Amino acid sequence: MPATPLKLIAPKLPTGILYGGDYNPEQWPEAIWQEDVSLMREAGVNFVSLAIFSWAKLEPRPGEFDFGWLDRVIDLLWQNGVSVNLATATASPPAWLSLAHPESLPVDENGTRLSIGSRQHYCPNSRAYRAGSARLCKKLGARYAHHPAVALWHLNNEVGCHSHVCYCETCASEFRVWVKDRYSSLDALNESWGTTFWSQAYGAWEEIQPPRKMMTFRNPGQVLDYTRFMDNALRSILLNEIHALREVAPDAKVTTNGLGFLRQTNYHSWYKEVDIAAWDSYPDPSNGFGDIRSAAFGHDLFRSLRGGQPFILMEQVTSQVNWRSVNTLKAPGQMRALSYQAMARGADGIMFFQWRASKAGAEKFHGAMVPHYGPTGRIFREVCELGGELKKLACVSGSRIPARVAFVVSWESRWAVELESKPAQFDYAAIVADFYRPLWELNIAVDVVSPDAALDGYAVVIAPALYQLSQEQSDRLTQFVEKGGTLVMSYFSGVADKRDHIWLGGYPATLKDVFGLVVEEWQPLLPNETNGLIMEGDRTPAPCTKFCELLQLSGARALATYTQSFFAGRPAITTNRFGLGEALYIATQPGPDLLRSLFSEVLAKRDLHAPARADIGVELMVRQGEAGEFLFVVNHNSSEAKIDYADWRGIDLLTGQPISGMGNLASFAVLIIQRSLQSAD
Ligand code: GAL
Ligand code: ZN
Repeated sequence: MPATPLKLIAPKLPTGILYGGDYNPEQWPEAIWQEDVSLMREAGVNFVSLAIFSWAKLEPRPGEFDFGWLDRVIDLLWQNGVSVNLATATASPPAWLSLAHPESLPVDENGTRLSIGSRQHYCPNSRAYRAGSARLCKKLGARYAHHPAVALWHLNNEVGCHSHVCYCETCASEFRVWVKDRYSSLDALNESWGTTFWSQAYGAWEEIQPPRKMMTFRNPGQVLDYTRFMDNALRSILLNEIHALREVAPDAKVTTNGLGFLRQTNYHSWYKEVDIAAWDSYPDPSNGFGDIRSAAFGHDLFRSLRGGQPFILMEQVTSQVNWRSVNTLKAPGQMRALSYQAMARGADGIMFFQWRASKAGAEKFHGAMVPHYGPTGRIFREVCELGGELKKLACVSGSRIPARVAFVVSWESRWAVELESKPAQFDYAAIVADFYRPLWELNIAVDVVSPDAALDGYAVVIAPALYQLSQEQSDRLTQFVEKGGTLVMSYFSGVADKRDHIWLGGYPATLKDVFGLVVEEWQPLLPNETNGLIMEGDRTPAPCTKFCELLQLSGARALATYTQSFFAGRPAITTNRFGLGEALYIATQPGPDLLRSLFSEVLAKRDLHAPARADIGVELMVRQGEAGEFLFVVNHNSSEAKIDYADWRGIDLLTGQPISGMGNLASFAVLIIQRSLQSAD
């Protein structure tokens, strides 16, 4: 019997900003549920993610389902004004499933089969796991899809977080099917993997193996294809659940929570499959602006994954996590500031892991909306204050961030550039972070896009270390510059094609004309080694790190030169007019100050500026919607910061105060200034 819907209406998301978190009522006696919902009302919670780890409770024995408790909790939530993001409950298969199907447990590269007793213990290709998941999805869908509380479906949980690779026999045979489909012939596979090297040629499909533990360097084509194959297998876990759910609930709206710029999962393709993008953000407060920037980057990425559509910050912590070696506490006000950071960058939902702190299990020391201390301390007070504020911000929901800068990241490039036996061991995410940093500091809105994205409408494209570049992607970048765009690219770009074969004739071979140069040689630097960079017209050199390329210019003009070693005097940053546009090449890793001043000039030439002027660490982002424009101001500094609101005049939605001119911002202060679109001109 399905849970008794109070009223049969098409489920829809609560209006305004979503607020809540993972709710795990199965960890508590039902008496606590009553207290939960009354505290939720107090906190302004309107949305919770339910049943994420409930498989064993929902299906205690194979084919035997117990939905009674879930019926009761969904009804209770709905009666208290809380909508539900109902999980498919597949994130942690029950012990009986894994033990009845031991082949469903993942195998590591050494051939060791992993055990039950943790979570995500499934091989992505396991038939038993997929069949069990699909059956559960159908049961849940049939029972709850029409419950008015169930506004969204939460597929699985952070797929690929732990379970990102498996080397079992099922995966091996599925990999054979996958390569056969990709290459059709063994000749084509051998060509692509370059198997003439080291006598690696394959003479039969059965010989193809996953790249398990080997003597030394693995074949790069094989590893790259296995990474693609695994990404695809993980993504198809979501597709399996979507299909099952939609068989019984064709209109079900789905999401899944990603994990920022996670290495194994190509979210550019994944998030095309769901209705709403969502991600989990856990910046380390002890890492200062470093992690605050990476949270900003994650927000930009998840907003961009679905073309600028508002996303949900599905998880963050109120206080501190439990999984670092030292779990630093967020300072008073910092959780609020980070929540508004997400909203400033396009979030229409602010959620936490989790509602009530567990008293047992592996995450009992993870912070929650209701901590062990109970609802009378600082944490719950801050939770209630934020919830109260968000109710006033319904006018912001649905608004978008107009960005004229595209920041290109590529999972394919990442997988390829991070393969072993390169000129140096590259950390693609770190390079991306280095180039994103000045944009964050300068408060320039960027969309984080794939190299396959359409670039119309952007004035500037920034593409760091785009090691793997296809002819088609190069053509798109070429046309972008030809038509008047400004392209900024960094070292180690355009080196290889999709097979990880080198584009011969000097890097970046497919874009040599666009940049008016060719890279002839390179010098990777040791971790503490630097070279120097001097901008034209400057007297003091600034350090550069990581990688230095020697360029031969064929039309480009040097903007900066190296100062040390036999690189001294040779161009390090160049610019080239090409068609109606300009192409800048950065052949090394400049320090943050130099990169900021360079970016600021490049952006100013295209009339791109921050919406206001403030000290570094004050985030300024504009959202535009039907109710006008909103300037978000978030001071991440632990001290007061200065701000000049420039031409921004309006009402701070949080305090109702009029704002204009110049001012000081307290540590972790937040303002949201609304102005109508008419008064902007
Ligand atoms: C997330 C996960 C949650 C919880 C949380 C702790 O990665 O989705 O279930 O484990 O981390 O920070
Ligand atoms: Zn496997």
